[in-house]
Amino acid sequence: MPQVAPLVAPQRDGGRSPHPAGIALGAPWSILEGMKPDFWQELPRPLFALAPMEDVTDTVFRQIVLSVSDPRWLHVVCAEFASTDGLCHPAGRPKVAERLHVDPGERELLRRLGVKLVAQIWGSRPERFHAAARLICTEMDFDGIDINMGCPVRKIVKQSGCSALIGQPALAKEIVLATKEAADVPVSVKTRTGLAEVVTESWIGALLETEPAAIILHGRTQKQMSRVPADWLEIARAVRVRDAGGCTTPMLGNGDVASVADALQKIEQSGVDGVMVGRGVLQDVWFFNHPACRPSKEDRLELLQRHTRLYAETWGGRKNFNILKKFYKIYCSGFPGSAELRKQLMQARDAAAVQDILGC
Ligand SMILES: Cc1cc2nc3c(=O)[nH]c(=O)nc-3n(C[C@H](O)[C@H](O)[C@H](O)COP(=O)(O)O)c2cc1C
Repeated sequence: MPQVAPLVAPQRDGGRSPHPAGIALGAPWSILEGMKPDFWQELPRPLFALAPMEDVTDTVFRQIVLSVSDPRWLHVVCAEFASTDGLCHPAGRPKVAERLHVDPGERELLRRLGVKLVAQIWGSRPERFHAAARLICTEMDFDGIDINMGCPVRKIVKQSGCSALIGQPALAKEIVLATKEAADVPVSVKTRTGLAEVVTESWIGALLETEPAAIILHGRTQKQMSRVPADWLEIARAVRVRDAGGCTTPMLGNGDVASVADALQKIEQSGVDGVMVGRGVLQDVWFFNHPACRPSKEDRLELLQRHTRLYAETWGGRKNFNILKKFYKIYCSGFPGSAELRKQLMQARDAAAVQDILGC
């Protein structure tokens, strides 16, 4: 488990600081020495990234995806979003920090493949972002930090976090600057095209003023949730805004990328530097492998077993076993008898029962 040191969230400094985010420059928690390399600029193009997905992209799933990916088609993986309020609260921190757990086995895989790992944080208070970024950079092992300005879920938006920040560009900018101030790793932003209305030009223009290390744009508004197809014309518009301003911020498109071939087409048509893929990987764990890769039934069942074993070893009883079961339909499809096997696996209560069903 990550070490979590006692942490005092920095207070606004009552006018001592000229920093636009109101962060006290020169305070003990400010600016970490020596920035780590900006991998967003250095990675090859086109860029492929695994999207952050709550209850999906934990250290176990990321290892499974990494283990069947080709580093030509996967460069960045993201952890599930973690609350800055939770990370700043001594009682809430251990639970939230679990979302940012990085298994040593994953680190080894990342190193071997040259893939970068990004923590994603959300909240609404710049000083909490500052404290959370510092905690991540000093106590954990991530190559980058992403700020979630895209999640449309009502209970999150009601707390003025995530996509709600699209409606508060001044606060959003303060948050990016506060995070950058505390981080020694590149800070990116993942967002949407608007709230009820599309405001790509003004919103992306505002974000670019803070010079984030990358912008990942999901081609839907907050109101659209996931109900309509992602609008890649808006993603292309964001690229034009970036280019017109003479910025070099890498731009990744997100939404409905169905395969590597589809990604390459969307990249070509929109001008983005790369794509971030979410649900595509839930259809096909081998998404980032060579496009010609066709896993056999044996490959699928072997990966299912490995996933189950690693989940049990990593989380023990700390995570509900049912969270794992949603992955079984990815593995158990496309071969004779897969529906029946899936039905049996859905009855399993633990890893041992799964091994029994699979006869191993
Ligand atoms: C189960 C699930 C959980 C998600 N959790 C997060 C999250 O923690 N942070 C985030 O920025 N987006 C989250 N998303 C949104 C995805 O990262 C992505 O933006 C969205 O699914 C659209 O991309 P896709 O069409 O490739 O799936 C989540 C999506 C799903 C399906």
